[in-house]
Amino acid sequence: MTTAHNVRVTSLTCEHLREPLGIGVPRPRLSWSVATAAPNWVQSAYEIEVSGTSTGRVESAESVLVAWPSADLGSRDRCGVRVRVWGSDGTASDWSDPIHVEAGLLAADDWRAAAASVPAAWHRPPPGPAFHLRRGFHVRGPVVRARLYATAHGLYELSLNGQTVGDSLLTPGWTSYRHRLRYATYDVTDLLRPGGNAIGASLADGWYRGRLGFRGGLTEVYGDRVALIAQLELTLADGTRQEICTDGAWTCHPGPVRSAGLYEGEHHDARDELPGWNTAGYDDRDWTPVETLGLEPSPLVAPTGPPVRPIETVRPRSVDRGSDGSLIVDFGQNLSGRLRIRVRGERGQTVTLRHAEVLDRGELATRPLRTAAQEDRYTIGSDDRTQTWEPRFTIHGFRYAQLEHWPGQLGDGDVEAVVCHTDMRRTGWFDCSHPLLNRLHDNAVWSMRGNFVDLPTDCPQRDERLGWTGDIQVFAPTASFLYDCAGMLTSWLEDLAAEQRQYKTVPHYVPWLPLIFSLEPAAAWGDAAVIVPWVLYQRFGDTGLLRRQYSSMTAWVDQIIGLVGDNLLWDKGFQFGDWLDPAAPPDLPGAALTDRYLVATAYHAYTTQLLAEIAAVLDEADDHLRYAAHAAAVRQAFADEFLAPSGRLSSDTQTAYALALQFELLPKPEQRERAGRRLAELVAQGGHRIGTGFVGTPLICDALTAASEVDTAYQLLLQTRHPSWLYPVTMGATTIWERWDSLLPDGTINPSGMTSFNHYALGAVADWLHRTVAGLAPAAPGYRLIRVAPRPGGGLTHAQAEHHTPYGPAAVAWTRTGTRFDLTVTVPPGAHARVELPAPDVMPVEIGSGTHHFTCAVRAAADDPTAAEPTNLHVGDDV
Ligand code: BGC
Repeated sequence: MTTAHNVRVTSLTCEHLREPLGIGVPRPRLSWSVATAAPNWVQSAYEIEVSGTSTGRVESAESVLVAWPSADLGSRDRCGVRVRVWGSDGTASDWSDPIHVEAGLLAADDWRAAAASVPAAWHRPPPGPAFHLRRGFHVRGPVVRARLYATAHGLYELSLNGQTVGDSLLTPGWTSYRHRLRYATYDVTDLLRPGGNAIGASLADGWYRGRLGFRGGLTEVYGDRVALIAQLELTLADGTRQEICTDGAWTCHPGPVRSAGLYEGEHHDARDELPGWNTAGYDDRDWTPVETLGLEPSPLVAPTGPPVRPIETVRPRSVDRGSDGSLIVDFGQNLSGRLRIRVRGERGQTVTLRHAEVLDRGELATRPLRTAAQEDRYTIGSDDRTQTWEPRFTIHGFRYAQLEHWPGQLGDGDVEAVVCHTDMRRTGWFDCSHPLLNRLHDNAVWSMRGNFVDLPTDCPQRDERLGWTGDIQVFAPTASFLYDCAGMLTSWLEDLAAEQRQYKTVPHYVPWLPLIFSLEPAAAWGDAAVIVPWVLYQRFGDTGLLRRQYSSMTAWVDQIIGLVGDNLLWDKGFQFGDWLDPAAPPDLPGAALTDRYLVATAYHAYTTQLLAEIAAVLDEADDHLRYAAHAAAVRQAFADEFLAPSGRLSSDTQTAYALALQFELLPKPEQRERAGRRLAELVAQGGHRIGTGFVGTPLICDALTAASEVDTAYQLLLQTRHPSWLYPVTMGATTIWERWDSLLPDGTINPSGMTSFNHYALGAVADWLHRTVAGLAPAAPGYRLIRVAPRPGGGLTHAQAEHHTPYGPAAVAWTRTGTRFDLTVTVPPGAHARVELPAPDVMPVEIGSGTHHFTCAVRAAADDPTAAEPTNLHVGDDV
């Protein structure tokens, strides 16, 4: 038996949560990873201890989302959990550090709080003001445990005895409130004391009653009154309990926030601040009693992922004076968040903060924001002190800010941008020898950060910011590599399923709002119902998620089966098609070169096939057979309808061939070969410029690679002329743009009414950078088997990727020197890798955990048609 100390259990986690406080399931699954220098380490057994009771040694290699080994948790139950493991080589670990898993309120009748609102007449048309609610209370003795369970109709910020509770923002986030409203659990033990205490809350419209959506949008979508739902539960040292719930004993008062809207921005009038309002001694005799409402319509649910938080601050890169004397601040990075200012001036003076992603002739370009003003105002409350302020109930997408009426000089540190998004753990990195590609990758990371703000949105700036299904469908593989987004997307998928149950189809965006679109199903968008859970299963090994989403997946596919009817072609009705194909005119983004019904039928075949595979994973044997047979029939129908005997597809386009190849729609090998050749030809004929929209973009490089046209894929990837992935980079982009030419080559903004500079969909190519350029891909769920298959090209002399898989960190790094190719692969304990070197005569090898080095001979970089260094390019130039 080898000694214990070279095997260590690291990162014991519960479900997909880093902070297992207030979890919403009675049987949370546990995951751990192992660090060891022992080579080829595989777990042979584990032991889990829950509150001192052990499972004993369990012979099992499982370490990801292992079933809860103990009795069901009841509401509020808390237990210490630790684990230890044995390796098949006889090694053993010590016990891990314990984690504390605590259940939230699991049953509806755990809630005794009412929804506390201000008088109806206080509400104003959105953007309405924010209100203060408070309650003073007496604590009978020392507190040993205090939990605050809270949510709101609207947005809330809580404080206890003047101290802000927690550090999350925009709580409770946006879910399909009619079906699910998230509550949060806060450990507030340290904020309470025996004697007089006070709890305070500020409440604003947020998604609940604020304006949402384009073309004027909708207001009061979920209700016309904001309300707080809070339940503070104390356990005292003497064992007794005390509870303070929102009820008629609370009082309310208007606060200093005159108006706050997610799109509009926030106006804070510091003259109306009420010092000490949320502390115990405050005299609230002139406050008004709250009105209590029912909790309906929302079932309250616990979070499955992390909250939105302030993640980092960015300092200005430069400050200029605009033509009107205002200050224009460039943060050097397009982001989602808001400003934090430090200001001193005259009481009553108002500073205006405007935000935009780009400049137009030195002024803020606000046209792309459409009707989202993104304008904050701060009215100074007193002239005798410097005040620090940051809006609390709004968020903006911006790189530039314009400060109007700033008193005096702008000093160092007086303004900074606070980047805000869901506080996910970063898990993926990529780097290579090509600076523009690195910037492209950074841009994809920043677009993910800008749009993973509680739900996966299309954009963070204009009057939209909706959970568009098609966008996350194509970006999910990239997202799952870069960050641990499993918990966040789990929540969104529950909403998707809930909306789907209500509307009998998968809406184009979730949560759904009845804006201009009807509820007709659309391929590639609605297919998110199947593809996103599948991607999460591949990347995070979560079979339970497949099970939970299964009825949503089957309902979607069955709906389309019903719709295609006997000819098996999805050839009628609404489609977005290959949205934003570069050939589409600016104001007709759906007018793509590729037949929308070819796209739709291809997706139907693909998604049905995936569902057949999912059915097999879930042991749904009949479904497996039924869907596999249907998928095969649709593939045949696709070929009969869209493939000519010559091998040409009826849409002779990059997207059509990419779909046919990647979705395996061509029955015969010679058809596939021809399609691969034709795809490469089309790319070359187009001057190695991209011709795909949302649908073709994530597939084309993979399709070329599979067709042994990897050089063409690199030529496409490294193209800098418009349209291409690197064109925006050469134009100074710091995020992925919605359009290939959101900024036109002459530096003007695309004239369309739909021009965002922060849309992740076209950044889906980052997944190809990870899997094929660097060569790190999952080959079995959760990366238990890793495929290491780098395909050097493009004149790159090195590339590397690192990903923190559920088993631990995996890494691939290669360098190419002349004809020599050196590869280093790190495989985490418990996983394996299949290494396919980029030399045709070398057989794949399978390796276990540890770090491994390989060398082989490859073509000289000089033989590579893309090897020439790009010229005249500057990374990160000003837009
Ligand atoms: C959004 C999207 C979305 C598209 C579909 C746009 O307005 O920004 O990215 O997928 O509409 O129509």
